Amino acid sequence: MKSRRNFIKKSAVVGTGIAILPNLAFGMNYSVEKLKVGLIGVGLRGTNHVNNLLLRDDVLITAICDVDPARISLNLEAIEKSGQKKPEVFGENDYDYRNLLASKEVDAVIIATPWLWHTRMAKDAMLAGKYTGVEVSAANTMEECWDLVNTHEQTGTHLMILENVNYRRDIMAVLNMVKQNVFGELLHFRCGYQHDLRFVKFNDGKSAYGKGVEFGEKGISESKWRTQHSLLRNADVYPTHGVGPIAVMTDINRGNRFMSLTSHATKSRGLHNYIVENGGADHPNAKLKFKMGDVITSTIDTANGETIIVTHDTNLPRPYSLGFRVQGTKGLWEVDGNRIYIEGKSEPHHWDKADDWLKKYDHPLWIKYGEHAMGAGHGGMDFFVINSFIESAKQNIAPPLDAYDAAAWSAITPLSELSIENNGEPQSFPDFTRGMWVKRKPYNWIKDTY
Ligand SMILES: NC(=O)c1ccc[n+]([C@@H]2O[C@H](COP(=O)([O-])OP(=O)(O)OC[C@H]3O[C@@H](n4cnc5c(N)ncnc54)[C@H](O)[C@@H]3O)[C@@H](O)[C@H]2O)c1
Repeated sequence: MKSRRNFIKKSAVVGTGIAILPNLAFGMNYSVEKLKVGLIGVGLRGTNHVNNLLLRDDVLITAICDVDPARISLNLEAIEKSGQKKPEVFGENDYDYRNLLASKEVDAVIIATPWLWHTRMAKDAMLAGKYTGVEVSAANTMEECWDLVNTHEQTGTHLMILENVNYRRDIMAVLNMVKQNVFGELLHFRCGYQHDLRFVKFNDGKSAYGKGVEFGEKGISESKWRTQHSLLRNADVYPTHGVGPIAVMTDINRGNRFMSLTSHATKSRGLHNYIVENGGADHPNAKLKFKMGDVITSTIDTANGETIIVTHDTNLPRPYSLGFRVQGTKGLWEVDGNRIYIEGKSEPHHWDKADDWLKKYDHPLWIKYGEHAMGAGHGGMDFFVINSFIESAKQNIAPPLDAYDAAAWSAITPLSELSIENNGEPQSFPDFTRGMWVKRKPYNWIKDTY
C-alpha cells in the first residue's frame, strides 16, 4: 500500500493530454515520470503487449514474469534491443509472480496468462496496489467474478479488462453512431466469438499453429491450456470479444445491466473429427469426448429491454467473424455483409454498403492515431486498448472497462454452463454493482485522447 500511495502522489502531477503522433511522444505533456509496467505472462499475447509498450516513451518495462524461460529470453532480447534497461525477471515457479507484485519498481501490471490464472493474479495485483490490466476473459466462475469486484472495492485499486475488440475501427464508428442516435432507440444485438480454433487447440508441441493433434502437456501455447476447457466445460468460455462492445453500446453497469440469460449447445463433433482427420482414428486423443458443444448460443435480456444473442463457435470450419448486429428503431448495422440500413436515409428495403457510414462516423481516436495503430496488431485495436490502459494508469483513474464490466461479461461463462445443463433454463445475472448501475454514468467514449 505504501508504494501505491507513492505512485498516486507521483501521478497526481501528471497532465491529461497526449502528444500528436508520429513521434509517439506520449509522455510529453506529463511530468518526467514514466509508468513502470510489469508483465505477468509473456507468451504470444504478452509479447505483443511488450512490443507495443516498447513503442511508447511514457512507459518503462521494469519486470517480466513467465514460467517458460524461452519466452523470457525472447522478450529480454526485444527489451534490450529497444535500449531500455534490463527488467527484473521472475518465473521460478507458478507463484513467483507474487514477487513481481512486491517490487517497488512496478506501478502497473498486465496479466496475459492462461485463463485459470487471471482472477487469482488480478486479485493479488490489486491487493499489492498495482494498477491492473487483465486479458480476456477475466474470470471462469461466479465466485471469481465476485472476487474481482470485491477486491477492487476493498483495495480501491483499479482493474481494466483488456478487451481490444472494443477499440476496433468499425466498432468505434458504430459506437459513435449509437451515441449520435443514428440507429434510434436500441433493441437487439448479435455478437460472438466465431473463430475456427482447431489449429490453435491442437498442435505438435513445437509450433503454435497448423500441425499436430496434441494438447495439454504435449502441446504449446494455447493448446497447452485452452483445449482442456473444451474437453471439460459445455459453456461459452470466451464471451467478451463479442459482448464487450455491445455492453458499452448499451451502457451495461451504467444505467443498464444484464438481467438473465438462456443458453443452448449443439452436440460436439468438430474437435473429434479434426483429430481423426489429422492424427488418425488410432490416435489416443480420438477416444476423448469433448464436452463443449460446437455452437453455443446464449440470449441475454437487459434491464432496458434489449436482447443480445451471443454465439461461441470455435470447433468447426468457418471463416472468422464476430457476427455483430446492432439494431434500433431507425435501422441496423450487420458486420457480415458489411451493410447498414437507416430508415429515411437508405433506399427503402435496400442495404447501403457500410463503408461510407463507417467513414462518416469514424471515431476521433482512429482519425488521430489510426495510421500508427495499424502496425500494433489485430488491425490496430491492440494499440488503442493499451493506450487506454496506460493513460488511465498514469492518472490512476477508473479505466473505461472496469472491474464491474470484467465481472458482468465473464459471468456469461458460468451462467451459460448452468443454463445448458438445465435444458436452457434462464439464469439470473448477479448485480455486481449492488444497485449502483442505476446511478453510474456512462463513460465518455467519444473523445480523441484514450
Ligand atoms: N485480446 C486478444 O485478442 C487476445 C489474443 C490472444 C490471447 N488472448 C488472451 O491472452 C491470454 C494469454 O494467451 P496467449 O495466446 O498469450 O497464451 P500463451 O500460452 O502463448 O501464453 C501464456 C503464457 O503464460 C505463461 N504462464 C502460465 N502460467 C504462468 C504462471 N503461473 N506465471 C507466469 N507465467 C505463466 C506461459 O508460460 C505462457 O508463456 C489468454 O487469456 C488469452 O485468452 C487475448
